[in-house]
Amino acid sequence: MSRRARFLEVLGIADEWVLRRAPALPEAVEPSAMAGLADPSAEVTAVHEDAASREAAQAAVTLAAVADARVNEAQAEAAPSAWSAQADMDAAAPAPAPAPAEVAVARMPPEPVAADTSTREAVIARLDWAALEQRVCGCTDCQLCDGRTQTVFGVGDRQAEWMLVGEAPGENEDKQGEPFVGQAGKLLDNMLAAVGLARGRNVFIANVLKCRPPGNRNPEPEEVAQCEPYLRRQIALIQPKLIVVLGRFAAQSLLRTTTPIGKLRGTVHSYEGIPVVVTYHPAYLLRTLSDKARAWEDLCLAREVHARAGAKA
Ligand code: URA
Repeated sequence: MSRRARFLEVLGIADEWVLRRAPALPEAVEPSAMAGLADPSAEVTAVHEDAASREAAQAAVTLAAVADARVNEAQAEAAPSAWSAQADMDAAAPAPAPAPAEVAVARMPPEPVAADTSTREAVIARLDWAALEQRVCGCTDCQLCDGRTQTVFGVGDRQAEWMLVGEAPGENEDKQGEPFVGQAGKLLDNMLAAVGLARGRNVFIANVLKCRPPGNRNPEPEEVAQCEPYLRRQIALIQPKLIVVLGRFAAQSLLRTTTPIGKLRGTVHSYEGIPVVVTYHPAYLLRTLSDKARAWEDLCLAREVHARAGAKA
C-alpha cells in the first residue's frame, strides 16, 4: 500500500478527498501526537505571505501533522515532514481550495450601503437652474449632440403651476433654441390661450429630449434615458401643480408605460406625486382635425385638476 493510501486510511477517508485547507479535525490532535515532529509551520509559513494565508497554512499543517502522527502510531515509515505530507496531498488534490480569506469575506455581514451621490443622475438632481441650463447646453452624453444646432432647454415661467411636456425639438426648434415654435407651436399657443394661459406666463414648456433627433426620427431609448434626468430636475425645480403631456411618446416616456395614448387620455396620472393629464400632440392635431374636440376635453380636465389642486392661476 502506498504511503498516500495508508495516510488516507488512517484518516478514515479512504479515497475521498478533504479540502486541504479545511480546518477539520484539529481537535483530534493530542500534544503527544505532535511530539517528535519537526515544527512544520516554519516551512509552510515561508510560502504564505499574509495573515489569513498563514492561518490557513497552520490549519493545513495541523491536519497534516495529525495524519502523520497517526501514520506514526500505525508504525508506518518514519514520519515525514509536514511539508512533504502537504505536498503529497497537493499532488493528488483535484483543485486548490478557495483561500480562507475569501471565504471569510463572503461570510461578512453586508456593509450598509450609502446612497451613491456621485452618479450622473444624482449630480443632475442637485443642480440649480443656472447649472442645469449650462449642463444641458454642453451635453454630449448621447449621439444627438452630433447633429444638433443647439439644445432646446425649455421656456417659460420657472414658478409656473402648469408645465407642458412635448417630445423633442424639430427643425425650427433646433434652429431657434425654443420648444414649439413651428406650426404645431402656433396651435399650442392657441390651446393655451383657450384656458387662459400664455407662453412665458403661468406655464413652462419643455420636451423629453433637449436635442433634435435627425430627420425628426423617433427618439431611441438610450437617448431618452440620458435626457430624462434633465426633465426630472426641471420638474423638481418648478414643482408645478399640474403636468400636461403632449403626445404618445412624451406620455409613454414620462409615465413609463406602453399603454396607447387613447387609453391614457381622460385619466389623471401621477409623476412624482404631481397630477398628469395626457392629450394629443399639436402636430397630430394639425393632421387629425377630428381629434381637436378630444384635445379640448383634455384641456378642460387639466383645468379642473389644476383648480382642485388649489392653484391660484
Ligand atoms: N414637437 C415637440 O414635441 N416639441 C417641440 O418642441 C416641437 C415639436
